[in-house]
Amino acid sequence: MRNPFLDALAAIVGEANVLAGASDTAPYFTDWRRQYRASAECVVRPGSTAEVAAAVRLCAREAVAIVPQGGNTGLSGGSVPTGARREIVLSLARMNRIRALDPLDDTVTAEAGCVLAQVQRAAEEAGRYFAVSLGAEGSCQIGGILSTNAGGVNVLRYGNSREQVLGLEVVLPDGAVWNGLRALRKDNTGYDLKQLFIGAEGTLGVITCAVLRLRPRPAASATAWIAVATPALAVALLARLRERLGECVSAFEIVSRRCLEAVLAHAPGTPDPLGAPHPWYVLAELEDSGAFEALHARLEAALGECAGRGELLDATIAASHAQAAALWRIRESIPEAQFSNVKHDISVAVSRVPDLVAQAGAALEAAFPGVAIYCFGHVGDGNLHFNVGDAALVPRREEVNRLVYETVAALGGSISAEHGVGQLKREEIRRRKQPLELELMRAVKRALDPQGLMNPGKVL
Ligand code: FAD
Ligand code: MLT
Ligand code: ZN
Repeated sequence: MRNPFLDALAAIVGEANVLAGASDTAPYFTDWRRQYRASAECVVRPGSTAEVAAAVRLCAREAVAIVPQGGNTGLSGGSVPTGARREIVLSLARMNRIRALDPLDDTVTAEAGCVLAQVQRAAEEAGRYFAVSLGAEGSCQIGGILSTNAGGVNVLRYGNSREQVLGLEVVLPDGAVWNGLRALRKDNTGYDLKQLFIGAEGTLGVITCAVLRLRPRPAASATAWIAVATPALAVALLARLRERLGECVSAFEIVSRRCLEAVLAHAPGTPDPLGAPHPWYVLAELEDSGAFEALHARLEAALGECAGRGELLDATIAASHAQAAALWRIRESIPEAQFSNVKHDISVAVSRVPDLVAQAGAALEAAFPGVAIYCFGHVGDGNLHFNVGDAALVPRREEVNRLVYETVAALGGSISAEHGVGQLKREEIRRRKQPLELELMRAVKRALDPQGLMNPGKVL
């Protein structure tokens, strides 16, 4: 015998789409890094916007909180229950239809449960390009990337997930459906409401569908693995390449030697791209129209000039898609290769990256002599992943965080560049955001979700 609440949910989404057994629900109740684990009453898997709305209305009536969940690849504990009150997990996985793709408007209308790679493929089949790309793209969903305003490796050229959105459909906390699925490039009719839900981490409503911008598909790409002596030279190299090659620099990722060594140990057989060790590397990608050979030649010439001026130590340019994919595999394996440590996702102005690395590194070395620092990430956006120590240091994460976040604050940076706040940084933003900003955020939350039903315990 099940309880009447679960039966009422089953009447909305079908018996098979209300999961309550321990083995069925376990994957939904734990986050990707296995840092957060708590139970909810069940997992509900609606198949349409109408079903989401009906389930949310029922929860509002019963005062049951809702944890929206996409691919559950989030890194801040936002996608799993807290266990602090009556909650359900609302999985969008069955809402995975591409409703429309319009090559004249250059838009794709994708339901929230579409996996990012599925949208990239649909764009490619239509001769277009969907510009968000990140390591979790085979699992994370459109609703998840929009709700976290995910960054990834293409932000340098195309912007964050937010910049890809023209319209949204959202189920509000009382079950009303806001249809904002517009494909307009210009619309100044008051507040831009969709921006409230992008990056809200499920605390203001459930995103059910989005109109997303497509771009011209680059005909060619060229990928280089470049050794540099310092982060300062990586930042200078980016400026040089952009002066020389312009907008076509689409990715510019930094990788420390320690990160590369972690990948070599984690995935035996992975070749070290340059053979001899160097302290820092950059993985750079260019995308453009025209032929691969021409792009390759432009990159080679630009790198040759930099080498001539002593601005880089060594470099290799991928000669084929397979070689480029192998270089990207190294970069995308870093999160798994150093899984358990004290993680940071921080940003500063690009020019301050060298100061951030030096100052945070010095503060950590003074407090924890010999501590390992895994520094990698989106240096072209001023966004570093600055992970410290190993599992043994995790119990002392407050001390580690304080040292890193004090440095970030002194440099005018952010303690969450792209992964969001979730549960992980909820207390920290109370300390670090201006009181007025927090009050404005609470006012928005109260206005849209007066019962506090949407993803409680996250962000605020
Ligand atoms: P989930 O993890 O399921 O949810 C994330 C948040 O969004 C939660 O708060 C959840 O409640 C909310 N949410 C999900 N769907 C909805 C919806 N439909 N409506 C309302 N709220 C919703 N992030 C980056 O920014 N850049 C990277 O380069 C990057 N690389 C990654 C690499 C790996 C290997 C992994 C595991 C993660 C990476 N991430 C990265 C983190 C992560 O933010 C992204 O994977 C992605 O944005 C999360 O999408 P998801 O569908 O898994 O969302
Ligand atoms: C990345 O850039 O690889 C991600 O944001 C994931 C991570 O930081 O672990
Ligand atoms: Zn990242």
